[in-house]
Amino acid sequence: MRALILVGGFGTRLRPLTLSFPKPLVDFANKPMILHQSCAARSLVHEILIKLICLTYNLLLGQIEALKDVGVTEVVLAINYRPEVMLNFLKDFEDKLGIKITCSQETEPLGTAGPLALARDRLMDGSGEPFFVLNSDVISEYPFAELIQFHKSHGGEATIMVTKVDEPSKYGVVVMDESGKVDRFVEKPKVFVGNKINAGIYLLNPSVLDRIELRPTSIEKEVFPKIAADQKLHAMVLPGFWMDIGQPKDYITGLRLYLESLRKKASPKLATGSHIVGNVLVHENAVIGEGCLIGPDVAIGPGCVIESGVRLSRCTVMRGVRIKKHACISSSIIGWHSTVGQWARIENMTILGEDVHVSDEIYSNGGVVLPHKEIKSSILKPEIVM
Ligand code: GDD
Ligand code: MG
Repeated sequence: MRALILVGGFGTRLRPLTLSFPKPLVDFANKPMILHQSCAARSLVHEILIKLICLTYNLLLGQIEALKDVGVTEVVLAINYRPEVMLNFLKDFEDKLGIKITCSQETEPLGTAGPLALARDRLMDGSGEPFFVLNSDVISEYPFAELIQFHKSHGGEATIMVTKVDEPSKYGVVVMDESGKVDRFVEKPKVFVGNKINAGIYLLNPSVLDRIELRPTSIEKEVFPKIAADQKLHAMVLPGFWMDIGQPKDYITGLRLYLESLRKKASPKLATGSHIVGNVLVHENAVIGEGCLIGPDVAIGPGCVIESGVRLSRCTVMRGVRIKKHACISSSIIGWHSTVGQWARIENMTILGEDVHVSDEIYSNGGVVLPHKEIKSSILKPEIVM
């Protein structure tokens, strides 16, 4: 069997971080997100499930390893953005995971369906078997064997996994009957249609490829509604933990859950000391000054310098950042190689892109700052600084 992972979204909501790196490579807990899907996320999911849902252990597999386990021999990564960054990772992946991984590179973003048309030949292995399609920014458990079984049992053309959420309007909403047959698929509905949403994990028959033209097109808006209208779209409820970590708020929540799982395992990776509060990751190359108070839910990347008297909570500080004396940062993401001036106060989902420099004593309340900017006056309310 084959699989395609939709890697290459422009990642508009994680901007400005994704202006420098494609979304799956944005560091999450000091590691690119996509690597978590194959290893660390597994333990995250495992711990959370044990706690919340008590599902069976063998369901808890990372995306690519889980695919391999159900007989997938080749994974196609569909990318459209800064492919050279992605390509560097590819070789490592193949060696680490022991599965053939190739890139299908778009010259323009083809959306969530166009990449399937582009990789058409690679998705059809001649056996007529269905293939998997996964969004790359979701973490969950991956009950692929069940998915295959369900797919074969209903005889339709496509199966999507669905999960329940509180805020369905941010997702693709699925209206289905008790057997799982989908009546309607509505992407990002303006009015309430239901609370079961598309989890971004699909098993599709090769015939679905005949429905997709090679052009920028959305599987959610242009393909699924038509398969549903033909009564050939089915949905399977995904048991347990699921999260799209493509949005800043979810990114911070995801970090908290991940660090909590390290705590449950009594992981030696978690920082200790009188200056640490709760769950904190500090890269071994990072330097922390005197009198800092760090945590809870903080990840500090390699090469960072945190000067004395700094206060950090619920935030991610990416590689090469310098935080100057007595700065205070909470609920924010500080992008690669940025600096935060002394006595600055950064809070409320502030996101600094790569190489942003915040002057001394600045206040940022939810500012989203594009790469390579200097911030010399305070940002008093959430806004984008171009
Ligand atoms: N190769 C490629 N090219 N991949 C793309 C492109 C593109 O032009 N555009 C988006 N993607 C990838 C993204 O990287 C992501 O992995 C996936 O396709 C979905 O795109 P997002 O931009 O993350 O969409 P979303 O989160 O708003 O909505 C999607 O995911 C939800 C679940 O998290 C939809 O599938 C919803 O229906 C779903 O509920
Ligand atoms: Mg997403």
